[in-house]
Amino acid sequence: MLSLKNKSILVTGGAGFIGSHLVDALILENPQKIVVVDNFFLGKRENLKNAQKNFKNLIILKQDATDFQKMEKIIKKEKINVIFNLATKALEHSFVDPDDAFMVNVNLASVLLRLLHQKKYQTLIHCSSSEAYGTAKKAPITEDHPLDPETLYAAGKAAADLMVRSYWKTYKLDVAVARPFNTYGPRQNEGVYAAVIPITMKRLLANQPPIICGDGNQTRDFIFVEDTARGILAIYKNKASRGLEINIAYGHEIKIKDLIEIIAKEVSYKGKFLKKPARLADVRRHKAGTKLAREILEFQPAYSFKKGIKKTIEWYKENAK
Ligand SMILES: NC(=O)c1ccc[n+]([C@@H]2O[C@H](COP(=O)([O-])OP(=O)(O)OC[C@H]3O[C@@H](n4cnc5c(N)ncnc54)[C@H](O)[C@@H]3O)[C@@H](O)[C@H]2O)c1
Repeated sequence: MLSLKNKSILVTGGAGFIGSHLVDALILENPQKIVVVDNFFLGKRENLKNAQKNFKNLIILKQDATDFQKMEKIIKKEKINVIFNLATKALEHSFVDPDDAFMVNVNLASVLLRLLHQKKYQTLIHCSSSEAYGTAKKAPITEDHPLDPETLYAAGKAAADLMVRSYWKTYKLDVAVARPFNTYGPRQNEGVYAAVIPITMKRLLANQPPIICGDGNQTRDFIFVEDTARGILAIYKNKASRGLEINIAYGHEIKIKDLIEIIAKEVSYKGKFLKKPARLADVRRHKAGTKLAREILEFQPAYSFKKGIKKTIEWYKENAK
């Protein structure tokens, strides 16, 4: 197992939802320093409040990680060894600016891969998304499932993954791809571009009826954010992950209408549910294969859906604005 002790780590998108939980997990590995590079498109400084309390060598930089020269300078100045690439612009942004949504995912990977190829640092753990698969053609979705993205966001994620794959095949760079499925938990953005769980929680806590888009029979495979962060970290630690794409998931599918009912029940909501048209390019079915993560990383999520949802509700009760 590889250690991060005394390493200098950079996390792009580290002020975001999963990125900030990854930073919390990295602190426990006793690194030399952690540098967060985030342009604050959706990231928030308050997501790193605990991390700042717990770790004095946390450097937070407001910086676009698609800027090659700036990234080269930061990597050199901070003597970075390992980069975790978690930056992205939320899927919903791809309905506002499709080209930007695609290009930002590609450019982030391109810049970080070029710098790795030029030996400016040693290891890149790149974060993909289950969205890259599109709707399941077979279930469970194992890593050999074709990439068939529905949105421009997902196309950008898939393109970035292929770029990582090709750099690996050609140059055997020290790279691996984490492919998380839908992640939920504290600090998930509940404002503009929010996903189904934060939107539902926010509405229920404000005593507004929750919204089901489409027939509600579309499924997702939800994993709690602390588990996702642990999975991404496990990919770094296990050298056998290099050159691979590995699903980070719980392995159970749930219909969106059932998900919303569970959350409603947890907060004792007894009112009506609103129906809205299906979302654009909404994936119909996601159920992850988790064998590779179990075998290579010995990774298994620690949170059941019920336990994760309870913790998430508590957080939104205390923190949602
Ligand atoms: N949330 C999920 O359900 C989920 C599921 C699968 C994969 N992922 C992947 O996990 C990673 C993190 O997603 P998240 O849910 O935490 O999203 P998020 O929006 O909370 O975090 C992304 C962060 O990247 C920052 N960012 C955007 N463009 C940037 C740029 N050009 N330079 C620097 N920073 C930039 C944002 O400000 C934000 O803080 C992404 O790669 C995403 O594709 C997320």
